[in-house]
Amino acid sequence: MENSFNQLINFIQEKTGFMCQLYKERPLKRRLRVRMRALQLNKYDEYYDFLRKNPNEFKELVRVLTINLSYFFRNPETFEFLQQNVFPEFKDRSRVIFWSAGCAGGEEPYSLAILAEQAGILSKVQIYGTDIDEEALGRARKGIYNSNALQYLSSELIMRYFESEREQFAIKEYIKSRVTFLHHDLFQLPPFPHCDLIVCRNVLIYLDRKAQRRILVNFNEQLKPTGYLVLGKVELLLGIPEMKLFDAVNRAEHIYRKLGTGT
Ligand SMILES: C[S@@+](CC[C@H](N)C(=O)[O-])C[C@H]1O[C@@H](n2cnc3c(N)ncnc32)[C@H](O)[C@@H]1O
Repeated sequence: MENSFNQLINFIQEKTGFMCQLYKERPLKRRLRVRMRALQLNKYDEYYDFLRKNPNEFKELVRVLTINLSYFFRNPETFEFLQQNVFPEFKDRSRVIFWSAGCAGGEEPYSLAILAEQAGILSKVQIYGTDIDEEALGRARKGIYNSNALQYLSSELIMRYFESEREQFAIKEYIKSRVTFLHHDLFQLPPFPHCDLIVCRNVLIYLDRKAQRRILVNFNEQLKPTGYLVLGKVELLLGIPEMKLFDAVNRAEHIYRKLGTGT
């Protein structure tokens, strides 16, 4: 059974580029089982055969593997802290770069754009939203949401930042235009300038320690000196040596700052 599991994940990696080996085994197996159950298959080698014969299934599989649930202003306290304690620092800079890494359907980078608008710095902010899931990126580029994604926003804010039509909410163009979406795998360095702020929430939790370490090194490299890193509230990376590259700014909100004067 272990061999057939390895054969399956090697095959998925080869065909999709999704680096299964770097994801935690238990959640990975749970997600593979979601697809196997849907197809009424019991064994990993049966699913392997199915994938070989039905390459369209890869698309469904990647969707399940990369669960991309998100909300505008998810964990509102984190955004509140950024607004009060971090964004004022950006006011004196001529250009500010944010990166929402693992941005799913765009809720997070658009929330950063809204926050920037509220701080009066929108015109000098460039935000990058990246993900490995093309389907999620497609939704992000459209910028149209249902009310579930907006559950942390007051109706006043919804009216201010969205055009609504038949229970669908489209992010207004002046906010949308500040965000660029790119297909990018976190195991690589991204193709844009060094960042003042990187937000990567609810992504590292699915990855094993080795992968978390690699990605933290990339974040350190990609941040400007003393740039900020925001991780998810569920992500406890205690004991990971690469966390020493950062100083905690707010432990409860998992907000860190790059140490030293590197790049
Ligand atoms: C649960 S969503 C998090 C969305 C948002 N950051 C939030 O906290 O609401 C996780 C996202 O990470 C993306 N992801 C997973 N592995 C990735 C990788 N290696 N590189 C880039 N994105 C990845 C998934 O495709 C998914 O859209």
